[in-house]
Amino acid sequence: MRYVMKGGNPLVGEVVIGGAKNAALGILAAAIMTDETVVIENLPDVRDINVLLEAIRESGAVVERLDRHTVKINAQSIGSITVNNEFIKRIRASYYLLGAFLGKYRRASVALPGGCNIGSRPIDQHLKGFRALGATTVVEYGMVNAEANRLRGGHVYLDVVSVGATINIMLAASMAEGNTIIENAAKEPHVVDVANMLNSMGANIKGAGTDVIRISGVRKLHGTEYSIIPDQIEAGTYMAAAAITKGDITVRNVIPKHLEAISSKLMEMGCEVSEFDDAVRVVAKHRMQPTKVKTLPYPGFPTDMQPQIAVALALAEGTSIVTESIFENRFKYMDELARMGANVKVEGNIAVIDGVKRFTGAEVAAPDLRAGAALVMAGLAAEGCSVVEDVEYIMRGYEDFEGKLRELGAEINLASTDKDVQKYKLSLIG
Ligand code: UD1
Repeated sequence: MRYVMKGGNPLVGEVVIGGAKNAALGILAAAIMTDETVVIENLPDVRDINVLLEAIRESGAVVERLDRHTVKINAQSIGSITVNNEFIKRIRASYYLLGAFLGKYRRASVALPGGCNIGSRPIDQHLKGFRALGATTVVEYGMVNAEANRLRGGHVYLDVVSVGATINIMLAASMAEGNTIIENAAKEPHVVDVANMLNSMGANIKGAGTDVIRISGVRKLHGTEYSIIPDQIEAGTYMAAAAITKGDITVRNVIPKHLEAISSKLMEMGCEVSEFDDAVRVVAKHRMQPTKVKTLPYPGFPTDMQPQIAVALALAEGTSIVTESIFENRFKYMDELARMGANVKVEGNIAVIDGVKRFTGAEVAAPDLRAGAALVMAGLAAEGCSVVEDVEYIMRGYEDFEGKLRELGAEINLASTDKDVQKYKLSLIG
């Protein structure tokens, strides 16, 4: 599938942000750790979430969608701790089922995760954590197997700050015997959200949001109703869209505190950013100023916002430097951006971006989720028509992306065949 678009319209208006995908993935795994019913609200309707729900259903749990954003899960009837369907390999967060099954059933067997191709993504820290809880871990035939006769609290010092490992260890340790300490833990808002959700099920987790998390294991978790926090990256993407298209966008249903790294970078670049209780407005009246951006674990600038901010900087008045310090392979989209006229040079994990006055429409392909979204926004700023291929990546993490962009004034359509592309191009030009 592709997006066909005609650029040039400043994006103006309001957009309502959905629940955080990366929190939801951990929360859905947590939901299977009780035999009681769990209701999860503000669930984003995106592909990664729907794939995980499918895997949970296949393991034998009852999964009922109450409405587009609410799901009811009862895991009493889970019959299999083996997760190996062809879809699950495509999503990174399948690994959360390891922590959840290990905690509840003391055994888990899950296909090695896939996910976005943004660099080598080992899971050694997850496994190190499980071993610290007394589990044995074996990776063979494409599966990760973890098992523990007695799962007991342990002391884990993460060698790298990892969101996934922090959440996974938290899941398993919630139902281990005794106390666990995770040091050098990730502090991302979604780590805190998963901890809050587990606590609402009767877990005893303290310190989430700091770099030391303490967990007192409990024998049983109970049902809950829980509403997921807003998606920091979806919000940040539309904020960047205002900067890229010289627009005026208010993102609603957000937690402004979670957006501070993004807001302050946009202000440095010359945007006006106003914060309200649960909204942030970004107005970009002039050409952006160049700056330096370095991705870091929270509260630093998020790696998942690196391509979007880089696209804004590629139109700025001067030279910017973007340093990617989390994933080594996250500049693959730069070649595509260059086809729209951007002037970029990548060396290792550093991109030097000489701002240009304008982009021109081109046919490009989305290499991953966030870079895909960034290329669409580049197309919306470019003169003439652009086509972004492989938008399935984008659908993994953005609900109704083209619909929300259209509401903001974008001229964009989804096309599945070459004929559709030609038809839309003609209608856009005409
Ligand atoms: C999560 C997010 C992803 C985001 C990333 C960083 C989900 C589903 N995905 O990914 O969108 O870009 O956080 O904010 O929530 N590492 C190891 N060993 C491990 C685990 C990680 O060396 O066992 C390294 C990674 O290669 C990477 C760094 O640690 O360099 C951070 O990765 P991590 O925070 O684990 O990212 P994910 O949880 O995979």
